[in-house]
Amino acid sequence: MDTVVSGIRSTGNLHLGNYFGALRNFLKMQKENHCFFFIADYHSLTTHPKPDNLHGNIKQVLAEYLACGIDPEIATVYIQSDVPEVTELYLLLNMVAYVGELERTTSFKEKIRKHPDNINAGLLTYPVLMAADIIIHRAHKVPVGKDQEQHLEMTRRFARRFNSLYEVNYFPEPDAYNFGQELIKIPGLDGTGKMGKSEGNGIFLADTPGVIRKKVMSAVTDSGPTEPGQEPSEPVKNLFTIMKVVSDPSTVKYFTDQHSACQIRYGDLKKQVAEDIIKITDPIRNRINSILADNIYLAKVVREGGEKARESASKTIREVREIIGYKQF
Ligand code: TRP
Repeated sequence: MDTVVSGIRSTGNLHLGNYFGALRNFLKMQKENHCFFFIADYHSLTTHPKPDNLHGNIKQVLAEYLACGIDPEIATVYIQSDVPEVTELYLLLNMVAYVGELERTTSFKEKIRKHPDNINAGLLTYPVLMAADIIIHRAHKVPVGKDQEQHLEMTRRFARRFNSLYEVNYFPEPDAYNFGQELIKIPGLDGTGKMGKSEGNGIFLADTPGVIRKKVMSAVTDSGPTEPGQEPSEPVKNLFTIMKVVSDPSTVKYFTDQHSACQIRYGDLKKQVAEDIIKITDPIRNRINSILADNIYLAKVVREGGEKARESASKTIREVREIIGYKQF
């Protein structure tokens, strides 16, 4: 059985991009692999969340994981900060990560551009912590969205460098995993770019049907095709991209043909997209609410998951210390 690791940062509610980019793959993988799914709450500290919000954010993402169908009886579900071995491996991996390559990381450069007032060292070494998360369980596969490809490439590089520095073949080089098809990117509703937690263009799994309808109906479009067979503009293409993941192929074909024939009514397209999103999110939202109300269940999941994760992580740390040359006095 392959070992699979993936995490989601606890920085706000999960959206459709998380669901289709990551979670749906987690679900497919949990039966056939040895899976570790965690809440990346240390990673969320780069943006300095208030102490009053931290716990609630973690709890929300945990409830959302479970509501989507991640089964803690099969997969190991845990909170990153419950596994201190991860931070030790992070420190050790920092010795084989070079400042130059960290500075050149796309996500780091983006952060500098967007938040020049908070370029902390945690942001610089974000890929090292992510690598520690993954190789602490000596994972083979990592289901992630397209935006994480570069981080995963760095994980492979750190693992390779560790192996060659100590002349061992200890850490496998993990691959990004997304069930054959290319990595999925769900666009936002504002016409450009991907759906993000912070971009204000997302549909959340916890959104009520009313909110979803309102958001989709106000998505950016254009003034309509003028020539038969014309390529849809970027914002319209984005709506079709969402439709392709939430609607039946026959529905997609119907609206694509309507667009080609210059007969499309964007209002109808949006109504259809909204209803098909709701069909997927509504049962999930109901489960989120009932899980959130069950603190005893949540505490049990976190305790048992944390114990299993630490068992795996402490074995790795013991072996890594030995490889590096630490010996008992
Ligand atoms: N960086 C990932 C994201 O922003 C979250 C993450 C942290 C992660 N550690 C990980 C994903 C380990 C996969 C494996 O989405």
